[in-house]
Amino acid sequence: MIPIKRPDEIKKITRASEIVAEALITLKQVISPGITTKELEQIAEEVIRSRGGIPAFKGYRGYPASICASVNDEVVHGIPSIDVVLREGDLISIDLGVIYQGYIGDAAITVAVGRVSKETERLIKVTEEALYKGIKEARVNKRVGDISYAIQKHVEAHGYSVVRAFVGHGVGKSLHEEPQIPNFGYPGKGPKLKEGMTLAIEPMVNAGSYEVVIMKDGWTAKTADGSLSAHFEHTVLITRNGPEILTKWF
Ligand code: MF3
Ligand code: CO
Repeated sequence: MIPIKRPDEIKKITRASEIVAEALITLKQVISPGITTKELEQIAEEVIRSRGGIPAFKGYRGYPASICASVNDEVVHGIPSIDVVLREGDLISIDLGVIYQGYIGDAAITVAVGRVSKETERLIKVTEEALYKGIKEARVNKRVGDISYAIQKHVEAHGYSVVRAFVGHGVGKSLHEEPQIPNFGYPGKGPKLKEGMTLAIEPMVNAGSYEVVIMKDGWTAKTADGSLSAHFEHTVLITRNGPEILTKWF
């Protein structure tokens, strides 16, 4: 069963999502050569807790940190570390979830560190565009496959691949709820979308092949071929008037 949220639940998911967005905006402003991913985590925690939120990822299935910070060929779930120092030309994906009064918002952005190559810039741009193509399909009476297909089509039209090993998801009372939202699929397939669903739509896009490998830490996913990877995610509410983005970082 895909949960339909009541208005009071939507209020809390909305507030959680605002805190997510605020933390991501703050991180975007401080990301620069020389900063460590551990420092980014500390800054995020400060924003989250000062707003009455709780980091949603810490302790989730044993995940050890408050954010995921995935650099270059890391796809998702990179663990913040004092040993990971950002350098000019890197790309970093930050994924962040917040619990507010028992309800969750979840979002991710990918950011260029200083000046980056044209290829890196293009990968980031196409991945973000793919997110909005997917969100556009998040409408009453459409289906999950419409979101999946819109994302996949945009990504592959640019010569990139969508990761298969991780998917988007319902979000709200738990971090991961039904339905799963793959970033690949067929229009008209999958569960029907209804008013009051809250969805985390999150394309993960590799410059090379879609295969990933998991590192020895049990979490960090990297591209199998060493190519770059980008990730964008929004928490979206389905309303009768269309999709409403709750994690507005823009
Ligand atoms: N946004 C990611 C997801 O929805 C983050 C989960 S990471 C974890 O799957 F550490 F919390 F597991
Ligand atoms: Co998510």
